[in-house]
Amino acid sequence: MSATARKTAPLPDDIRARKGGEPLVSLTAYTTPMAQLMDAHCDFVLVGDSVGMVLHGLESTLGVTMEMMILHGQAVKRGLSRAMMVVDMPFASYEESPAQAYRNAARLMAETGAGAVKLEGGVAMAETIAFLVARGVPVMAHIGLTPQSINTLGGYKVQGRGVAADRLLADAEAVAAAGAFAVVLEKVPETLADRVTGAIPIPTIGIGASAGCDGQILVVDDMLGLFTAFKPKFVKRYATLGEQAEAAIADYSTEVRERRFPAPEHVFADTLPESKK
Ligand code: KIV
Repeated sequence: MSATARKTAPLPDDIRARKGGEPLVSLTAYTTPMAQLMDAHCDFVLVGDSVGMVLHGLESTLGVTMEMMILHGQAVKRGLSRAMMVVDMPFASYEESPAQAYRNAARLMAETGAGAVKLEGGVAMAETIAFLVARGVPVMAHIGLTPQSINTLGGYKVQGRGVAADRLLADAEAVAAAGAFAVVLEKVPETLADRVTGAIPIPTIGIGASAGCDGQILVVDDMLGLFTAFKPKFVKRYATLGEQAEAAIADYSTEVRERRFPAPEHVFADTLPESKK
């Protein structure tokens, strides 16, 4: 069912069942008002750990904490009624052991109302994914460029080129076999993304991957032109809200300095006018 026709949020199984069908639509959100704007248009909304860079000015996602994810998850949840909410597990909240992952995933779900969690990693995380799924935690996997591993990946490079393609395919197969209901493919060559999409039974969600993926996701501030620190090649700006916001702030500043704001219609009289008595 398309997002606009739906009255309630899909479940992870509904997302899984969209494999090969109408492409899944997703964006990140971190606040209630933005979640409200996308609720009718997205199948699922991701409270991404990109919040650290987009809203908190961090240089990477590594400094994002459970507390930040919970606070933003709660805010986003208040803005959603039709889209499913997925919350990212932050760096160092799940890698140590399946038990650590369960404790933190359960906390994220209980305290935010998320329908699922997302974690980064392929073969190395398969055991953890199976552990979570067997205990009632739906998991979206994330492979390819996994930003929490930039220090071992050597930066934000395209992943899976050349001989690394088979490793990426093995990662996709491992997370699908472990029970993930969908997998994000970030920054991988188009032909490899298509190969992975054809090879696994769960939806692939592309970001810098291929139009042939089963769905797409973007960071909302990137596609609205609000986050302008840098623009990855895979981002399409559908608006230039950052420029518009700065122009509006400049106008306000001029009007205040010239005493043109507030104008008569923005101030209050001593007494109510006759018509309002
Ligand atoms: O944190 C994030 O924004 C992500 C992307 C997949 C959009 O994980």
